[in-house]
Amino acid sequence: MEEVVVEGYVKIKVPRDRSISKRDKVFYNPKMAVNRDISVAVLQSFLNKYRREKFLICDPLGGSGVRGIRYAKELINPCGTVEVIINDINPFAVKTVKENIRLNKVENVQVFNRDANVLLSEHFRTFNLVDIDPFGSPNPYLDSAIRSCITRDGIVAMTATDTAVLCGSYRKACIRNYDAIPLTGDKELAVRLLIGYAIRVAGKYDIGLRPVLSHFTDHYIRTFLVTERGAKRADEAMEKLGYIKIENEEKIIRKREEGFERGFGGLFYTGEINDIATVGEALKIAQERGYSERSIKILREIYEECTVGNVIGCYNIHRICSTIREHVPPINYIVEMLRERGFKASRVHYDPNSIKTDGGIEDVIKCIREYNRRR
Ligand SMILES: C[S@@+](CC[C@H](N)C(=O)[O-])C[C@H]1O[C@@H](n2cnc3c(N)ncnc32)[C@H](O)[C@@H]1O
Repeated sequence: MEEVVVEGYVKIKVPRDRSISKRDKVFYNPKMAVNRDISVAVLQSFLNKYRREKFLICDPLGGSGVRGIRYAKELINPCGTVEVIINDINPFAVKTVKENIRLNKVENVQVFNRDANVLLSEHFRTFNLVDIDPFGSPNPYLDSAIRSCITRDGIVAMTATDTAVLCGSYRKACIRNYDAIPLTGDKELAVRLLIGYAIRVAGKYDIGLRPVLSHFTDHYIRTFLVTERGAKRADEAMEKLGYIKIENEEKIIRKREEGFERGFGGLFYTGEINDIATVGEALKIAQERGYSERSIKILREIYEECTVGNVIGCYNIHRICSTIREHVPPINYIVEMLRERGFKASRVHYDPNSIKTDGGIEDVIKCIREYNRRR
């Protein structure tokens, strides 16, 4: 049995009985609509900025086709066309993609039934955007995705649902899959580990990757990386990799060339994760188009985080209060108090109990104690 669901500006025919797992005949996860809303908004902001006669997208792990069809229908290229390739190894998925293309009357989509890595490998430096949306880790497709993307201002977008690995619950798997030692306790470090790994993969092709927007939502990480051509750009990206240690809630950074030291994790990307202009523009687009409240909220919170500047990770107020045996104040008050003291501060989109600030742990503790004294 099938049903038609509406998502964004498209209608999608999907199986009615879904376990939202690999076992489904054709995969469709309605919860990922937020991921797709944010993706369309980010890509539209990119299209508004970079003029392209043709914007060629590859969605090599297409499932029901919802993502690629949304790109085909909702992205507007002010200077030309948008063309989309949707691929899936599962023939049932491909049949559904074709039905959904007819249902939405889109003419700018081509469909393939190939192994994603074979398809990507046959398209050397071709796509403006490659969007890897796999079950679990994007790693098996990352190398071929980077090779298939244009090397100047292309975009490699990826979703990673292996967050337990990236967050450090499965240390050995992280070392094996990402050649990096994970750290627990701050989800942003998982995002930084994934980006750091992608930069190392691209580096061997003399391609630099510049992150423009990343978020950690529910059980997945989503990141958008812009390609930059040449050894110099690749070197610049590599220079932003480092090892990190968490000591008394503070992040201590050790440069890559200083080498690994016991107690540190990494390699992590230590540069800016988000480009404030891209985030601001994506937020505006999501609002104008009436995308989901949740996608707008996430973009708004990321925008706020950007105003703090490049601060690595966050302070978990609940954990700090438990250590110093203080009551937990309302998080917004701590943010406000830090701002009154001249620090930059914000909440973080991925943890309601945490804040980001350019102040140190002592400044945060002072605010907590002062709030509780005044109470
Ligand atoms: C998480 S789903 C994709 C969801 C889809 N992008 C969306 O937004 O709804 C992953 C898809 O990858 C497909 N897949 C798995 N391994 C593949 C491979 N080696 N090559 C191509 N497709 C593959 C699966 O059949 C599945 O449809």
